[in-house]
Order: sequence, then C-alpha cells, then structure tokens
Amino acid sequence: MSEYDLVVRGGNVTTASSQSVCDIGVKDGVVTAIGRSLGPGDREIDATGLLVLPGGVEAHCHIEQKSAFGLMTADDFESATISAAFGGNTTVIPFAAQHKGDSLRAVVEDYHARARPKAVIDYGYHLIVSDPTPEVLGQELPALIREGFTSFKVYMTYELLRLDDHQMLDVLATARRDGALVMVHAENYDMIRWITERLVNTGNTAPKFHAISHARVAESEATHRAIALSTLADTPMLIVHVSTEEGSAEIRRAQDAGLKIYGETCPQYLFLTVDDLDRDGMEGAKFCCSPPPRDADAQEALWRGIRNGTFQIVSSDHAPYSFDSNGKLYAGPNPPFTKIANGVPGIELRMPLLFSEGVVKGRIDIHKFVELTSTNAARLYGLFPRKGTIAVGTDADLVIWDPTLERVVRYADLHDRAGYSPYEGKHLTGWPVTVVNRGRVVVSDGELQVQAGSGQFLARDTSDFAKPLGQRLPEVDPARNFGADILPGDL
Ligand code: URP
Ligand code: ZN
Ligand code: ZN
Repeated sequence: MSEYDLVVRGGNVTTASSQSVCDIGVKDGVVTAIGRSLGPGDREIDATGLLVLPGGVEAHCHIEQKSAFGLMTADDFESATISAAFGGNTTVIPFAAQHKGDSLRAVVEDYHARARPKAVIDYGYHLIVSDPTPEVLGQELPALIREGFTSFKVYMTYELLRLDDHQMLDVLATARRDGALVMVHAENYDMIRWITERLVNTGNTAPKFHAISHARVAESEATHRAIALSTLADTPMLIVHVSTEEGSAEIRRAQDAGLKIYGETCPQYLFLTVDDLDRDGMEGAKFCCSPPPRDADAQEALWRGIRNGTFQIVSSDHAPYSFDSNGKLYAGPNPPFTKIANGVPGIELRMPLLFSEGVVKGRIDIHKFVELTSTNAARLYGLFPRKGTIAVGTDADLVIWDPTLERVVRYADLHDRAGYSPYEGKHLTGWPVTVVNRGRVVVSDGELQVQAGSGQFLARDTSDFAKPLGQRLPEVDPARNFGADILPGDL
C-alpha cells in the first residue's frame, strides 16, 4: 500500500501568501506532506507547468432557494455544485432562507433534505433572517449558531424580506452575543420604491429602468446606515454585492476609522454594465439583478477597492433564473421591470473571469486571486484553515489550474441550468483542469468523477473576523456591555 492515496506532483503550489514548485501528498482526504520527490501515491496527478491553488470557496450563491413569492432557482444542489466544481470550487455556502412566519429550524431541515442527496462538493449554509421574532432571536438563532450556522444575511430592501433598523439592531445584537457574522444587502427600500412608482406611472417599464430605480445613492445611503447600526451594536459586518464607488467609499471610510466592516463585490459589477440591461426586447431581463450593474467608472472603482483591500471577497451571487415562465419571465413574456426575477447566474465563471481579467491582465497578483476566491471566504465564514489554504493538516481541496488555457465562454459548455450565460462570447485565459475535494478527484478530463450526495455538510466555527469592535476601538470601553444587553440609559 502506498504512503499516499493521492500525490499531486510538480505543480506550482500557490496560496494567499506563498508559492513553490513541489508535490502534495494526500491521505484520508487531508494534506499530509508537502515537499519535493514525495514517495508514490495510489493515484498520481502530474501538475507540471500548472498552478495548484486552494479550492475555491464560493460563499454567496442561491441554490434551490425559493423566493419570498414562491419562485424556485433553476439550479438544485446537484446542478449548482457540479457547476461550482467545474469552475474550480470545492466548497459552497448558499443560503437557507427564512420567509415570514417560518421557523428557522424547519428551514434548515428543509435545506438539509435538499442538499444531502445531491451536493457533489462540501457545503454549509448562511441563514437569511427575515422574521426576527423573539423566539428566533432568543432560541433558534443561538442554537443554530452553536451548531455551525455562524453567519446570516439580512435585507434592507425587498418588500417581503427587509428588516427595519430596529430589527437590524436586534439581529446585530444577537450576532454579537453569540458570535456570528452578519451579511447585509444594503439598498434603501423607500428610495427604490419612490423612483419605481414614478417610472411605472410614466410608462418607463423596460428592463433598463430597473437600474435607474436602484439609484447609486440608494446603495450608499443604506451602506452608511448599516455601518452606523453595526457601530452602535459593536458588531462586525460584511456588506455584500457592492456595486458602486459610493458604496465602496462608505466601507473604506469605516475601515479607515478602525471599524470591522468588510466588503464583497461580484463579477456582474466588474464585467457587466447598465448597457447590458438595455439590450433588445426582453434580453435585458437576463441582466436584471439587485443592485444592478453600473458603468465603466464604477468598475474601475471596484477594481481599486479590490487592490487596496476594501473588498475581502469576490463572490458570484449566483441566482439562476431560466429565461422563461419558470424564471425571469414568470409574470409573462413582456413584464415590467418590477416583475422580472432578480439575479444572474455565474457560479462556474467567477474564478475564470477573475483570473483572466484580474491576474492575466495584471490588475491583481495570483496571491490576491487566491485570497479573494478562497482564503478570505474561509476566514470570514469560520472554515479556516481547514479550507482556504494548502498546508499539512488542511482538507485536500485543490484546484489544478492551467494559466494559459484559452477558451470562449459558451453556455453549452457550462453545467448550471439557467439556460444562458451573461458572459457568453467572452474570451478568457486561465481555467481549472482538475478539481480535488477532500482528496476525491471531483472533476478531471472535462468529466464529473463523483456521485451526487458525496459532498459533506460543514458545521462552521465563529468567523475569524467576527470579534467585537470594542477590542479594536480605544474610544469604546470594552467593560460596557454594548450590544445584546444594552440599556437605553447607557447611551
Ligand atoms: O439580484 C440578486 N442579487 N438576487 C439575488 C438575491 C440577493 O439579494 O442577493
Ligand atoms: Zn442581496
Ligand atoms: Zn445574493
């Protein structure tokens, strides 16, 4: 019997902070040796001339998720995790979404039943909290956090999901007390509603008006307010899917003040623009997501934010709706923008897009690429160092990447079920060729190599980033019990 189940030989092993040409030995799903001229493995992969990176951790995606008004995403856990794996990912963290009146516990059980028989790579869930009742805050959330659901998302917009500021503070205080990270969809609901009413009343209902209704200032105002709420509750926060320079500037300002505010952006804000929503007929509906893609100046601002550390992660926000009556066009073939399902697919292209447009074009280096696509997600969401890096003792989650392979994006080559790609026709350089999750070869030679249901659920630790702000800010007295048990008199 060999010393190793698998040896990946001679690749350029690259993490967020190091790079060297060496072999990786894997036993029982774990990296057990990194060095030169390792002994033989039962299976060997020649990675000469290729990069060997930590498997991608895709930490913002909507999989087999029912919207508040009953619309199901096109992907289930099988198609989405296969698509994620072909895109270089070994872990996904989608959402278990609570709708008003739901018990969070029952929601989590539902998602377990969906994922367990289907996932081909490892997975956990963030919780979406839309109904923070005393029972949810006092009993369900604390128990679920203890069981490894250590992050949740809240919405400041969308009629059926949004929380008001008072509810946000309740959720933030719970997160602080029990050690969870809160992700925020920051857009001002009333601004969007007010503009939308005026657009609809004047007959301006084509897809491009979706972008106009989601004004840039709606994002920056809500981002500013979310940060203020985080400051009051003394709790770290991640602002997700940031689309504007103004939103980015709010995050930067908070970080400069020493606050633990983190930022995420997504491919649709780096590679698509508002012009895509203005394509012929209903084609623009394919690009409707919230917040919407902006313009070239916003794209440049987001790249600056990536380079200067304002953004810790780039996630796909994969929200796949087919371009038919089961998805985007659920309200008919020619709906007003208010009745187009929001979201774009992209789980398979997140890493290739960022590699080609970021690393190959010289906007970021390879270490930043690893940090943005894997390491920081693992750290943010309590999976590091098991996931997100390559070292002795970590899960053998590896993506073997050909940095020179050139391909043109064709939806026919992808594995999701959205039915289209917003990036169709784009020439990309640098693609994953072999994907290994816990030592199992999941993808090689362009074929899936594992069975549905072979992915494992991940109970997650407290985020590395979710430490109370009082530890960092001298003007906050840590002796005062800010947050969960705050009394009005304290202010
Ligand atoms: O339009 C989007 N992004 N839909 C997905 C839901 C969300 O808010 O992330
Ligand atoms: Zn969102
Ligand atoms: Zn999302």
